[in-house]
Amino acid sequence: SRSASSFHRPCVDTARSNEENADINWDDLGFGLVPTDYMYVMRCSRDDKFSSGVLNRYGNIELSPSAGVLNYGQGLFEGLKAYRKQDGGGFLLFRPEENACRMQSGAERMCMPSPSVEQFIHAVKETVLANKRWVPPQGKGSLYIRPLLIGIGPVLGLAPAPDYMFLIYAAPVGTYFKEGLAPINLVIDDKIHRATPGGTGDVKTITNYAPVLKAQTQAKTKGFTDVIYLDSINKKYLEEASSCNLFIVKGDVISTPATIGTILPGVTRKSIIEIAIDSSYRVEERLVSLEDLFDADEVFCTGTAVVVAPVGSITYQDQRYEYKTGTETVTQKLYNILTAIQMGLGEDRKNWTVEI
Ligand code: COI
Repeated sequence: SRSASSFHRPCVDTARSNEENADINWDDLGFGLVPTDYMYVMRCSRDDKFSSGVLNRYGNIELSPSAGVLNYGQGLFEGLKAYRKQDGGGFLLFRPEENACRMQSGAERMCMPSPSVEQFIHAVKETVLANKRWVPPQGKGSLYIRPLLIGIGPVLGLAPAPDYMFLIYAAPVGTYFKEGLAPINLVIDDKIHRATPGGTGDVKTITNYAPVLKAQTQAKTKGFTDVIYLDSINKKYLEEASSCNLFIVKGDVISTPATIGTILPGVTRKSIIEIAIDSSYRVEERLVSLEDLFDADEVFCTGTAVVVAPVGSITYQDQRYEYKTGTETVTQKLYNILTAIQMGLGEDRKNWTVEI
């Protein structure tokens, strides 16, 4: 088996990672896994702190069959992106400290030690630089960065694992949905719920995602892009879609479900709220009912992977509701402002981007 010392041996092949661009078809990127060169790995025990990590070749990791993450789902993930600046000017991360802080609060909920904000950002930068030939050319997509924090130590009875791994890998991506930038078609599932009060809906734990695969698979079979979940008590307030937050637009008012425990506090969600307020829209974080949804002019989804996705239709109990989409929408305006900042094409007045 792989010894701890060999696992921690840095092995960056600088010649290879210095190539300008990997030899792939950049026009063909979706959101599938394109393996890259290196992953960042850092380990610590339960009562300790993370200290230093290393870059290893991207590849399989060895885990005990009784690892906490495999048996009891003790794991968190994050998602952020690096964009290549124009004219070979380096790379931009978008608000990485937000992901670092969210991982810290999630770790507290999941009884895990977590990297400091500085360690997290340092590790993200190292991962991007080691894989820089995989950051798509401007306009072709981004490098999606996936930090994981998992309990790797063995457990049999239910308890926090004795040891943890913080790992980051990355993959070049284009648009998340198969529709590309075109409007998506959602369906409301009123039987399967994503989260419950007191649960972990507001934490980026891996265990929030597998439970919605069934609803997502059923929806895709029927031709829908994804699923909207409702609150589990009243079954009439919007929560989110399988992989992203939801917004509705009515006139000059933009509303989104308030983060009251069952909603994932998305970094894109938070940024869009700020951009909308700066653009003189009224933003309401509140309970958003089905009636509000059916009455809306526009609906859009936000997420790191999804960015800002316009919703063309929503189906609820076989009734289809259609929404305004296209270049003259509030959705498009917010998308343009956000992506210009993320790609380094617009003024970053709030200092959201971090240059590498
Ligand atoms: C992201 O948007 O980065 C996420 O973590 C959602 C994931 C299901 C792709």
